[in-house]
Amino acid sequence: MSPKPHTNHLLFLSLLLLTTAAAETTAADTCAAPTTADDSRTCATTAAVDAPVRRETYGGGRIIDISHRITAEMPAFSSVAGVGEFVWLVESRKNGSLSNSSEMKLAIHTGTHVDSPAHFYEEYYDAGFDVDTLDLDVLNGPALLIDVPRNDNITEEVMKSLHIPKGVRRVLFRSLNTDRRLMFKKEFDSSYVGFMKDGAQWLIDNTDIQLVGTDYLSAAAFDHLEAAHLVFLKSREIILVEGLKLNDVPAGMYNVHCLPLRLQGAEGSPIRCILIK
Ligand SMILES: *[C@@H]1O[C@H](CO)[C@@H](O)[C@H](O)[C@H]1NC(C)=O
Ligand SMILES: *[C@@H]1O[C@H](CO)[C@@H](O)[C@H](O)[C@H]1NC(C)=O
Ligand SMILES: *[C@@H]1O[C@H](CO)[C@@H](O)[C@H](O)[C@H]1NC(C)=O
Repeated sequence: MSPKPHTNHLLFLSLLLLTTAAAETTAADTCAAPTTADDSRTCATTAAVDAPVRRETYGGGRIIDISHRITAEMPAFSSVAGVGEFVWLVESRKNGSLSNSSEMKLAIHTGTHVDSPAHFYEEYYDAGFDVDTLDLDVLNGPALLIDVPRNDNITEEVMKSLHIPKGVRRVLFRSLNTDRRLMFKKEFDSSYVGFMKDGAQWLIDNTDIQLVGTDYLSAAAFDHLEAAHLVFLKSREIILVEGLKLNDVPAGMYNVHCLPLRLQGAEGSPIRCILIK
């Protein structure tokens, strides 16, 4: 708690104004009609601030954000209501506090997120295989973004048809979910595309894939929710990253970088993932 926040605020503003006036005698005129980029920056402290730009790519397209922005309107597993309000101010300058300060409450498997082996195995949960134990070497490195056929879930037959070369350790599977923009729809849709049990088993038996990325809230198809997760997570060598934002990205090889939060005891975490060309 700040004893006299408003006094401090006013003092700060006055100092700013004094500094500005000393440096630029025509500050008032300049602020009314900025003529150069520098002028408008000088005024930004007192004038209304423009809305920030929200970006999907950075560095002229070199860095692609493949995480979904977390919003109240995004889908939540098995819910019609979406994620709902998840962040709120508990202290605010308007209420006389020193700063705006928020809290958040979020289901672990919200938006773009990662599962740890503890998600489906009690013994792994009890033994502590939480999200903090996931291998960052699997979550970061060369990755293949590949399109799967749009007329099926990811079955053994589909996996065979993709001809993913041996040695590829990270694959992001883009499906009909991306075309249908399911991650942008508030209501959960159980008809999403995911791995069937036989597709998951084939991947384990026949490929070197350790990072499995998919484009809806679960890597496993709804009808094989438990079965496919159990197959994937059993060895504790496969990491599932779910709910990736793969629209507007050409298929091909990238470097992927995914970083979960170090939430001790949690069987997953929201995750930020980017692709670098
Ligand atoms: C601000 O104060 C009002 C009145 O005490 C309270 O209802 C509100 O929740 C507070 N909001 C914040 C963000 O602190
Ligand atoms: C947050 O703080 C800023 C000043 O730093 C203030 O203008 C704004 O009104 C505050 N927001 C709320 C909701 O109190
Ligand atoms: C995938 O499986 C789900 C059930 O888990 C089903 O509703 C959906 O129609 C299937 N999608 C395709 C493209 O076959």
